[in-house]
Amino acid sequence: MTYDDIRKVFLNYFEQHGHKIVPSASLIPNDPTLLFTVAGMVPWKEIFLGHAQPIAPRVADVQKCIRAGGKHNDLDEVGFDGRHHTFFEMLGNWSFGDYFKEQAITMSWDLLTNVLKLDPNRIVVTTHVSDEEATALWKKIAGKDAIRLDKDNWWSAGDVGPCGPCTEMHYDMGADLPGGLPGSPDEDGGRYVEIWNDVFMQYNRDANGNLTNLPKCNVDTGAGLERWASVLQGKLDNYDTDLFQHLMDATTDIVKVKRNGDNMPSFKIIADHLRAVGFAIADGVIPSNTDRGYVIRRILRRAMRHGQLLGHRGALLSELYPALVHEMGATYPELARQEKHVVEIIRNEENAFADMLQSGMKLLDGELPKVQNNVLPGAVAFKLFDTYGFPLDLTQMILRDKNMTVDVAEFEKCMTEQKERSRADTKGTRVLWESRGELPDTNDSFKYAPVADLNATVLAILRDGEFVETAKPGDNVEIALDKTNFYGTQGGQVGDSGELRIGENTIVNVTEAARAGNIVIHKGTVVSEIHVGDTVNPVINAAIRSQTARAHTATHLLQAALRKVLNTDVEQRGSRVAPDSVRFDFSFGRAMTEEEKTQVEDLVNSWIAADMPVAHEEMKIDEAKSRGAMALFGEKYGDIVRVITAGDVSCELCGGTHVYHTGEIMRAHINKEKSVASGIRRITMSVGNLAE
Ligand code: SER
Repeated sequence: MTYDDIRKVFLNYFEQHGHKIVPSASLIPNDPTLLFTVAGMVPWKEIFLGHAQPIAPRVADVQKCIRAGGKHNDLDEVGFDGRHHTFFEMLGNWSFGDYFKEQAITMSWDLLTNVLKLDPNRIVVTTHVSDEEATALWKKIAGKDAIRLDKDNWWSAGDVGPCGPCTEMHYDMGADLPGGLPGSPDEDGGRYVEIWNDVFMQYNRDANGNLTNLPKCNVDTGAGLERWASVLQGKLDNYDTDLFQHLMDATTDIVKVKRNGDNMPSFKIIADHLRAVGFAIADGVIPSNTDRGYVIRRILRRAMRHGQLLGHRGALLSELYPALVHEMGATYPELARQEKHVVEIIRNEENAFADMLQSGMKLLDGELPKVQNNVLPGAVAFKLFDTYGFPLDLTQMILRDKNMTVDVAEFEKCMTEQKERSRADTKGTRVLWESRGELPDTNDSFKYAPVADLNATVLAILRDGEFVETAKPGDNVEIALDKTNFYGTQGGQVGDSGELRIGENTIVNVTEAARAGNIVIHKGTVVSEIHVGDTVNPVINAAIRSQTARAHTATHLLQAALRKVLNTDVEQRGSRVAPDSVRFDFSFGRAMTEEEKTQVEDLVNSWIAADMPVAHEEMKIDEAKSRGAMALFGEKYGDIVRVITAGDVSCELCGGTHVYHTGEIMRAHINKEKSVASGIRRITMSVGNLAE
């Protein structure tokens, strides 16, 4: 049975048993707690939690998954055994409050033994120690005594969220193989392979580890397609199955080296990494230096290193991508649809790294003879990282072959020192403020609800690069106060303008409030002499503040509309929110059509017309996450976060200022949509009077 056959048999079986068949969701989850879709259940989390309605009570699909970072991470195992992948396909069937344990186990068993005709005697089952019911069901349905395990038979996608006990089915690959039964000390030996996991999703776990019942009892099953292929094709190694053989044949054609026992890990790694990189970019990931973009960049660079080990120089995955499209494009049409874009992005990455890889290897080869006790100094690994772009795990992977490791503590020390240096190098007044010392953080808690008569004390005045005690009319200054109503530029939102007053008199015209760390700096021109120690009233320009608030809430609506009209992979990459105008950068692989632009604009305007309430709330980060609030990857959030919710269309973590009803925005108009970098588009939009 080929991969195509297996997908068909699986989906047909569940269709015949009343399941609705749906296509795979994106690898980029709509879930800030995860970098990638790590399991088939990820797209259904909101349904399990009772926050969304299922399209059908029973569903089945084949889901694209990546496990290469975070709680579920198989990256380091790939290539060295035949069972691990960063990208894989998960066959799954779901019951949303419909059938539960008995039918789930009955169908799994029926499909494995009656349809696929696997030998029942070679299947071993496990259940959770607490799960008497599932254990009894196995006895009744299959005459099997389940092995009772604890940790291995409890499943959750992340530290919080839906979870439950599970029952696993393992296949005995042959008595002559090493390895013991599941749960035994040598369970990883290779003889027993997990082929299916039925999870009984009935609990929600909160941040403190407490379990509460989900609204309904659900079933989430997951089976690794690659493992099924190996079992059904009688192969001990997933990479010996048809799909991987074809991808490795394509690699052989390009690197012009035959496969043998020694170079097999490189072939396996390249085939695996081709799938992870190709599928992720087709779903909208752009290689970068943060979060999932960095995971993909690292994987791509590891693949290049293995190309080099096979004697190949230069582009590799970009050359191989058409083979992936050929192999999997019929099942996943997005691969072909995005082909030009994906190849271009991979090629750019490969070009940028090719020379660095060679020079870096030269440096490393020169250092190796000096290595003592098989530990490479962290400073060398850091130089490879800093000068040649070697991710730490690439260096570690190279050394693994030589039984060497990296002094990671020293590497991290070098990293911290470099960050400090670059901070000190930053030009501009920010550095002067940050290095001034003795200034307390500005209390800017008034920024969301400015107070009419705020008695603030002038703490410092900066003029022409120097701190002074007094400033005269006409001086351009920056002023720090102990407290303020001003919002200092941050998170893409331009800071407030306004005045510092004493009584009715304007003392300083403030053109923009900025920030240096936790100090709000009021930038502007002095109107009437001002001294350190004066008491002033910081008054913001309320009209401009409302224009900025309109633009900010409109930005959230824009993002929600883009995700609806284009796809949920669209991710914010940067923004600038100014009075009545918005610049919004997002990940997307091509130009938007005129029709899409109109749809997005119409959608935003329909939400404005609906005059939905906009809630501004503070809550614990875990609560925000469980509400599914969108967050920016790469941003660090504290324990308490601010969540802005516009009707039922948008929920985002955000520290900015916003309107209270979408109707206040009045109108939105998209002015322009263009490319700013490969895979990144920019929309400029006007709102309010400007749009009118
Ligand atoms: N969520 C479970 C797993 O990933 C079953 O789908 O194993």
